[in-house]
Amino acid sequence: MSKAKLAVFASGTGSNYDAIIDAINNGTLDAEAALLVCDKPAAKVVEKAKHNGTPTFVFDPKQYAAKELFEAKIVEVLQEAEIDWIILAGYMRLIGKTLLQPFEGKIINIHPSLLPAFPGLDAIGQAFDAGVKVSGVTVHYVDAGMDTGKIIAQDVVYINDEMTRDELQSAIQQVEHKLYPATIQKLISGGESS
Ligand code: GRF
Repeated sequence: MSKAKLAVFASGTGSNYDAIIDAINNGTLDAEAALLVCDKPAAKVVEKAKHNGTPTFVFDPKQYAAKELFEAKIVEVLQEAEIDWIILAGYMRLIGKTLLQPFEGKIINIHPSLLPAFPGLDAIGQAFDAGVKVSGVTVHYVDAGMDTGKIIAQDVVYINDEMTRDELQSAIQQVEHKLYPATIQKLISGGESS
């Protein structure tokens, strides 16, 4: 059987993209990084993908008159590449129905909090400012809402009184980099259902 083809969507640094590539290279994730989709031409993740030989679709949303138009183009590129799963990894846009409908149940996201707590932007800052003692990471299916889809996996990070915001961020990232590849592996091997 051919390997599951992943399209990773990212807008920034791409540390989760790196973790996925590492897991593929070390054999713990049996998939192909078939495409990187990025809406920020200057993002670091684009350089990383080029360096790794991951095909890219990089676009500037400002060049399109409406979201439906760039999403229709993305769908075309995904279908051309025969993508099985869309892996959102720091893609800073809500997915609209043009993209959601053809891939519903095949789009997942990682969020740096224990959803439903702290959805949306700067979840780490929100948790830190709220003074919670436990936060963590959530992998979930994507629906039309903001971080509202069905939860697939979570892992916790304990916050002690001495921890700075940066230390919390780095603890969260370490958990993300293990949880995301492991959850993707379970999904593609049929271990989790939508
Ligand atoms: C991660 O914290 C992820 O949970 C959130 O965006 C961040 C992306 O970081 N959705 P990176 O670009 O993968 O380093």
